[in-house]
Amino acid sequence: MFIHQQSLRHLLRPEHYCSEQHFQLELEKLFRPAWQFVAAQSELPKDGDFLTLDLFGRPILIRNSGGKFLAYENICSHRHCLLTDDSYGNQRKLRCQYHGWEYDDEGCTAKIPEAKCFRPWDRDNSRLNMFRMESCGDLLFVSLNPDAIPLRDWLSPFYEETAAAFSSPTWRMAFVWEYDCESNWKVPAENTLESYHVTSLHRKFFGDVLPSEQNVQHLLDQRYTGLTFNATSGIEQLQTRLNRWLGSEPTSKYLHRHIYPNTMLVSTDTINYALMYMPTSPTTVRIRMRFFAIRGTRRGPFASLISWLAWRFAKSKTLQVHNEDRAVYASQQKGLERSRHPGVIGSREERIYIFQKYILESLGLPLPPDPATAAAKITIPEPLSTEVLQ
Ligand code: FES
Ligand SMILES: [Fe+2]
Repeated sequence: MFIHQQSLRHLLRPEHYCSEQHFQLELEKLFRPAWQFVAAQSELPKDGDFLTLDLFGRPILIRNSGGKFLAYENICSHRHCLLTDDSYGNQRKLRCQYHGWEYDDEGCTAKIPEAKCFRPWDRDNSRLNMFRMESCGDLLFVSLNPDAIPLRDWLSPFYEETAAAFSSPTWRMAFVWEYDCESNWKVPAENTLESYHVTSLHRKFFGDVLPSEQNVQHLLDQRYTGLTFNATSGIEQLQTRLNRWLGSEPTSKYLHRHIYPNTMLVSTDTINYALMYMPTSPTTVRIRMRFFAIRGTRRGPFASLISWLAWRFAKSKTLQVHNEDRAVYASQQKGLERSRHPGVIGSREERIYIFQKYILESLGLPLPPDPATAAAKITIPEPLSTEVLQ
């Protein structure tokens, strides 16, 4: 059931989707203080494996150091070179590509060629900057904020559910997908918060009947929203059967969690994925996704075959749906930048309304006046009496 029973105001205005000033405010107040999902541990299985990424202008290097996952700023303390330009790699030692300075796990210099040239040694300024890193199941999160609340609290009330949905051996990380879109980050984020578009954009998979309201449960909170949908279609029932064949406990549910500002966690009986919207400018976004495939608890060639079939099927369906969504983002962005309409949000889209409210409130911006309240404030002059007229 939906929580709201009437249409809702579109709280964000066009400039919130394209202005540089608003974008900078979002980076400062929403993104940099938050936890950011950056990768899965299973992407870095060996000692010395690393990956790099840009986190809102900060170059980051994530490294497996003997089974410990650590996050460094990818900038050398010697003369500021990026330690590495590679997106993925393996290095026995954490070593700068330029003059070969080496660092230990704590980011302290371990070996400096011709070290005597650097006397007296400035120990305090020779250490790599490091960031907080915590995990939930196989998922790794980094925060640029040293005072961020623990990841467990930040993911609450979905921490246990997420740890179970993104953990081996029942689930395995199967696919990394990243792509750039010509739209503000909130355009794809809002797309995934509503089921209203599925019969229009995804008719092939979802047919032309919207999921019934009785079948949809929305959770609305100041830090997150959630959707639980009972899987009833033929495709979803097949997913449930595949899950059971693999020795797991099917839920027959589609769970969608949005932890503000930009983390989405989706789980079904055969495919789960974590998705992060990384704004790269006011009007562009990089979408990072990590897909997990069901392995179940049964082992052997037959179970492997079923698991592989379940994955192939779920992957092709999910990617097609995402590509259909992706095709509309640039068009919505163009319209948003030129629109003179106030816009409107239906009760089926109420998660978007709560998300927009969170954006404005977190940035300390006023909510637009409610037209009903504004109308009530207009004082209508009394009609002139006939006596005066005479
Ligand atoms: S800049 Fe890194 S070793 Fe010189
Ligand atoms: Fe969609």
